[in-house]
Amino acid sequence: MTKLAKISFSKADAPKRGVVVILAADGLNLGTIAEEVASGLEGGLKRAADIAGFTGKKKSVLDLVAPAGSGIDRLVVFGLGKPEELTQDDWRAFGGAVFAQLQKAKAEAATVLLEGSDEIELSNEAVAEFVMGAKLRSYAFDTYKTKAKEDDGAKDLKLTVKVLDPKGARKAWGVSEAISDGVILARNLVNEPANVLGPVEFAKKAQELEKLGVEVEILGEKEMKKLKMAALLGVAQGSVRPPRLAVMRWNGGKKGDAPVALVGKGVVFDTGGISIKPAGGMEEMKGDMGGAAAVVGAMHAIAGRKAKANVIGVIGLVENMPDGNAQRPGDIVTAMSGSTIEILNTDAEGRLVLADALWYTQEKYKPAIMIDLATLTGAVLVALGNLNAGLFSNNDELADKLLSAAKASGEPLWRLPLSKDYDKLVDTPNADVKNTGGRWAGSITAAQFLQRFANDVPWAHLDIAGTAFGAPKDEICQSWASGYGVRLLNQLVADHYE
Ligand code: BES
Ligand code: MN
Ligand code: ZN
Repeated sequence: MTKLAKISFSKADAPKRGVVVILAADGLNLGTIAEEVASGLEGGLKRAADIAGFTGKKKSVLDLVAPAGSGIDRLVVFGLGKPEELTQDDWRAFGGAVFAQLQKAKAEAATVLLEGSDEIELSNEAVAEFVMGAKLRSYAFDTYKTKAKEDDGAKDLKLTVKVLDPKGARKAWGVSEAISDGVILARNLVNEPANVLGPVEFAKKAQELEKLGVEVEILGEKEMKKLKMAALLGVAQGSVRPPRLAVMRWNGGKKGDAPVALVGKGVVFDTGGISIKPAGGMEEMKGDMGGAAAVVGAMHAIAGRKAKANVIGVIGLVENMPDGNAQRPGDIVTAMSGSTIEILNTDAEGRLVLADALWYTQEKYKPAIMIDLATLTGAVLVALGNLNAGLFSNNDELADKLLSAAKASGEPLWRLPLSKDYDKLVDTPNADVKNTGGRWAGSITAAQFLQRFANDVPWAHLDIAGTAFGAPKDEICQSWASGYGVRLLNQLVADHYE
């Protein structure tokens, strides 16, 4: 598979050789420099467009082998539709689609003309978004492919982006590149199989953020026992691999400002435990650390772009296995908060991990807000499919900020309700709370459970079981793991906490 090896920005002029990509608005409207490139084809573009019925419609492509005399090898004309209607989402998707076209053509080097024109307004941010789309599209999880790399003949692609303001575009890309790298980090973590990525190995990945200036602290079993995290430890006790709690701190804001706290479910593999899952599709549960991966990816993005905010990431890392020492249905544990939990189903383990991670985070760091991300329930897939993550919150203002960040980042959220009556569904005669809420509204009862461990901090829970992996492939993601959440969390911090 073609990889995006190098990206550079330079001043817009008409490229004289190689593979060239230009943009066309509706009515085959080109920018002035693109017009100059097209004129080298001596009417060939107009003729080809007529024959192919290409008019510049949004997302349409005209891919031409250039005539010998023109100097260039190939001209790819990319349709924009109505430029005034284009959003950041569109520019990102265009970047992905253009990369796909170049990949199909096995191009080793290409020049993209993003000059803009009177009609095609192109900010540096839009250029950066375009490049992000190309970069995310180029991602493939091929770590374990030992043969294909030599066989498919695809070379790495060098992309030159020609713009009016290379300096400004480079700066905007600096920010977007940090975000893209965060998304790719999250995808890699989710795609990685559980035999390779256990709790200890995952914690090491979090530790690597120290390179970016993040302070990282790893708690082991001993420390967690001391903190009385029996809910998290109860899940971990069926695995021979010991649990970890990783804490990442980015202090980019004012000293003393209460931090934004991000908390992630990091179940490196979820067999269901003694309440074991059916075999079909169980391999997908290597992705049950998608929440933790999104938190690590977001911390990477935030630190990588040197955000002026205080942000803390906390991830609970365990493996849920059936074993002679595994916890049983009916067991009662006392969480760090002091609340007792009756475990009715050992497969409802994510909330147990988060119960202690959330309590610890709010007690130790007194955050301004606290957001957890978790591949928590199959029920959220029933409700929302793969296209929206479920949002739950005890605070309307925080929910609204998240909804607007979701729109701006292109990572959609849909709010679902919490209420006293739903809360009753996790009461039990045997303890303070039970870890399942019965057959119906499974995502809501899971969220009600979590709310009891958020302790009145403005808190939101994102159920990403449908969006973290297995979503349909799209312009910017061809991988099973999507990296969902990284762009959303980064956007929230950028828009509201810097
Ligand atoms: N990790 C699963 C949820 C999940 C399912 C994530 C499908 C991604 C895709 C979670 O730990 C789980 O097993 N939840 C149970 C809860 C039930 C036992 C109350 C579920 O959703 O069935
Ligand atoms: Mn489970
Ligand atoms: Zn799980």
